[in-house]
Amino acid sequence: MSFTIAIDGPAAAGKGTISRAVAEHYGFAHLDTGLLYRAVGRRVLDGTDPEAAARALVADDLDGAALRTPEVAQAASKVAVIPEVRAALVDFQRAFARRAGGAVLDGRDIGTVICPDAEAKLFVTASPEVRARRRLAELVARGIDTGYEAVLADVRERDARDMGRADAPLRPAQDAAMLDTSALDIAAAVAEAIRLIDRQIAQKQEETR
Ligand code: DC
Repeated sequence: MSFTIAIDGPAAAGKGTISRAVAEHYGFAHLDTGLLYRAVGRRVLDGTDPEAAARALVADDLDGAALRTPEVAQAASKVAVIPEVRAALVDFQRAFARRAGGAVLDGRDIGTVICPDAEAKLFVTASPEVRARRRLAELVARGIDTGYEAVLADVRERDARDMGRADAPLRPAQDAAMLDTSALDIAAAVAEAIRLIDRQIAQKQEETR
């Protein structure tokens, strides 16, 4: 049986951490769809045409810390504006979502475009300042220190591009549960995510009864 949990939200809101924990809690597989766009962005930085890079993507490209740099994040946000790139990545994401045993997908357009019929949907947010502080701590821990102001500017620039694009812009699905993690630590954010998902599952069961 397939079961899809869609988790969307802006950069560094806590989606990744929450999605991994939620997947583990329900025993589902997890796909970080940002990695698809990052892998395409990486190839484009190396000189490949964006659409060709998206079409040629293979699972092995999704691995590695090399994709988790500010430079690749910006490149990913830029290629994500191109409709042909997005179209080339749809089938892979939908197939993953419908795999037997359940799946958690996190990204920007999972609840709106990729899996509008997902059984549960979350939209995870936090203030830009909180997100910038978290992202900076993450980068510093990996030896990349660009400074708070640069990280905040990067977060705001990506927000504007991700929310402003014509094709599949970042926005909450109308039936998504909202989760603001600004004042929550990881344990509290994960607990709240599971509570919201359990509530959606219970509501769906009630409707089909
Ligand atoms: O989640 P992330 O920071 O790894 O995503 C990198 C970029 O990829 C993000 O700025 C926009 C794009 N993206 C997207 O357009 N749609 C998705 N489902 C996931 C990511």
